[in-house]
Parts: sequence; structure tokens; C-alpha cells
Amino acid sequence: MSDDFERRLPHAEESHAMTAQDLKAAFAGESQAAEKCLVFAAQAEADGFPNIGRLFTAISFAETRHARNHLRVLGGVQRTVDNLQVAFEGESFEIDEMYPAYEEIAKLQGDKQALRSFRYALKAEMDHKRMYAQAREAAVGGADIAGESVSVCLVCGHTVIGDLPDKCPVCGAAKDQYRTF
Ligand SMILES: [Fe+2]
Ligand SMILES: [Fe+2]
Repeated sequence: MSDDFERRLPHAEESHAMTAQDLKAAFAGESQAAEKCLVFAAQAEADGFPNIGRLFTAISFAETRHARNHLRVLGGVQRTVDNLQVAFEGESFEIDEMYPAYEEIAKLQGDKQALRSFRYALKAEMDHKRMYAQAREAAVGGADIAGESVSVCLVCGHTVIGDLPDKCPVCGAAKDQYRTF
């Protein structure tokens, strides 16, 4: 897959403030649309419409092109050490502020499913934060991280480097419920 076209897009150092806000909003919207289309594609397949599934999958891919273009024009893609810092800060915000606050509200409202969804995410973000910090440390020194596998629980998103646990420590899913990268 070639990202040459994206790379040719200019950075947005001269974007007007309002256009920068618009690019951010469009990036968020297109990213959401892409993910939604993938979930809809899986549902279409489960419902017995494989070609509608394929249409959703293709359009999801188109939405990712739009999202990437917006992000690049925004100047949101930098060197890997800087991208790792941005990713680290994103996880920190989710861990320290966003999910704890969301959890409190869900608790207050007795919304158990929302609470579980937030908990699953919060647990994984803690691992992601640590992984980004270690990766950044390596990258700052000019080194890549070790070539170990990275696996993700398909149910809750628990993320682990190296050996898989017998079952997911967060949601209890079996070992075969992980996807390995
Ligand atoms: Fe994360
Ligand atoms: Fe899990």
C-alpha cells in the first residue's frame, strides 16, 4: 500500500484558525465513519449480505483516506519520537481524566454496560501508555523496540507484548480470543 499521495499533501502551517478547527472536526468525523463502516460490514456479512459487507469495507477505506489527508494537512504527523509523545499524552489524558470522569457518571447513572466498556478501555490504555513510553525511550536513542509479538484481546482490547496469558486478565476471554500482530 502506498502512502505517496498523502505524503505529497502540504502541511497546514498557514491554515486559518477556523479551517484548522474544521480539519480537526472532519478528521474526527471521518475516523468515526471508517470504524462504523467496518462494524456495519461485519454485521452485513452476519446478516447474509456479503456484497453489502464489501461495499461497507471499501467505503470505510475511503473514509480513512479522507481522515489521513485531514490529519496530514493539519500537521498532525511528525517524526516517530514526536508521534510517540503525542500518543503517550493521549493515553495519559484518557487514564487521568477522561475515563475516570466517564466512569463516575456511568456509576451515578447505574449504566453497567457503559461502565464495563469504559473499564475495558481504561485498563488497556494503561498498558498502551507504558508501551509508548518504552518505545519512545528506545526511539530517542535511535533504536527500534524488540521484535516481539503484540497481541490484543478481541473482546476488551487488552494488549500484551510477548507471551499470551492463559486467559485475558481484564475480561476473562480465552487465549484463542487474541489477535497477534
Ligand atoms: Fe490506547
Ligand atoms: Fe479481554
